Amino acid sequence: MVSLRLPFAVLAVLVAALMTPSAVAQLRTDYYAKICPKLETIVRSSVKQSMAQSQISGPAVLRLFFHDCAVRGCDASILIVNSNGDDEWRNSDNQSLKPEGFQTIMNAKAAVDSDPQCKYNVSCADILALAAREAVYQSGGPNYPVELGRYDGRLSTRDSVVLPHSNFNLDQLNAYFSGLGFTQNEMIALSGGHTLGAADCPFFQYRIGTDTTMNSAFADDLRKTCNSNPTNGFAFLDYSPVGFDNAYFRLLQGGRGLLGSDQVLYSDPRSRNTVNAYAANQAAFFADFMNAMTKLGRVGVKTAATGGEIRRDCRFPN
Ligand code: HEM
Repeated sequence: MVSLRLPFAVLAVLVAALMTPSAVAQLRTDYYAKICPKLETIVRSSVKQSMAQSQISGPAVLRLFFHDCAVRGCDASILIVNSNGDDEWRNSDNQSLKPEGFQTIMNAKAAVDSDPQCKYNVSCADILALAAREAVYQSGGPNYPVELGRYDGRLSTRDSVVLPHSNFNLDQLNAYFSGLGFTQNEMIALSGGHTLGAADCPFFQYRIGTDTTMNSAFADDLRKTCNSNPTNGFAFLDYSPVGFDNAYFRLLQGGRGLLGSDQVLYSDPRSRNTVNAYAANQAAFFADFMNAMTKLGRVGVKTAATGGEIRRDCRFPN
């Protein structure tokens, strides 16, 4: 019964330490101010170059960040390439992640490491968090401050990948996101990430002609798209796939949400008010999206004390 003999003050500190998520507490927007003062400028210009080279880069990076944070936390485990082939990115749910997203992070990491002060001092997880913000900002979205100080994880396995599916209903979406600590509102704001990018036919084709919430003219367009290109057909998640705006929510109001998990946010009366609010007010969507992205960036953050490290090559643990 050692604990009973501890002075109250010591006990109080210990309890507080256990209750405070210390890994989260260490995140700060100025974490690299002395370690790598030019970090944000370097990542900004590198991501800008990648986005100029390919319009897929922005959407791909934003999705990559979500798929990283949702599995084992924001620790860049999605970037690990294990020699035995057992890693997150080889899970079937990650096979549609675009190579441009990975390449954008590799380019940004190389740019960061070309500064002698920064070399091997910035985690891949932080570079990914910054690049995701750039994808949003450089597409016309908000320029929100990014908390930094994450360490990179050392583990990545195929079986650890659990991600939401495009046929999820509202209860399934809520169950998944509440498991990561998000409210329904925050889940809807994060789904607004689908203002960027595209989806391949297999993710929505099953809805055409069967899902009555789908606008019929939209269904006709999608049918043509997928029938004319059965192997590589795709459609944009929003009219303006490289512009970050609230058009996604207006599309949902018109039955033009591409994925079932998008459209259900409007079809289900329990979430419709939030969709309407974001459709009417882009500033409200931007504010909630920024907060939800900051919260996403705190999921499962690693420290040196919890086995994290600053990876030298984002693909391989040191
Ligand atoms: C709500 C649950 C979600 C589901 C079911 C879902 C599912 C999907 C699917 C099926 C695709 C198409 C993949 C392809 O065909 O290549 C996609 C694309 C995308 N997702 Fe999600 N997603 C969800 C949440 C999110 C969140 C929270 C974000 C980020 C904040 C996000 C960002 C993106 C982006 C940017 C794309 C486009 C990627 C590209 O064009 O390469 N998604 N998502």
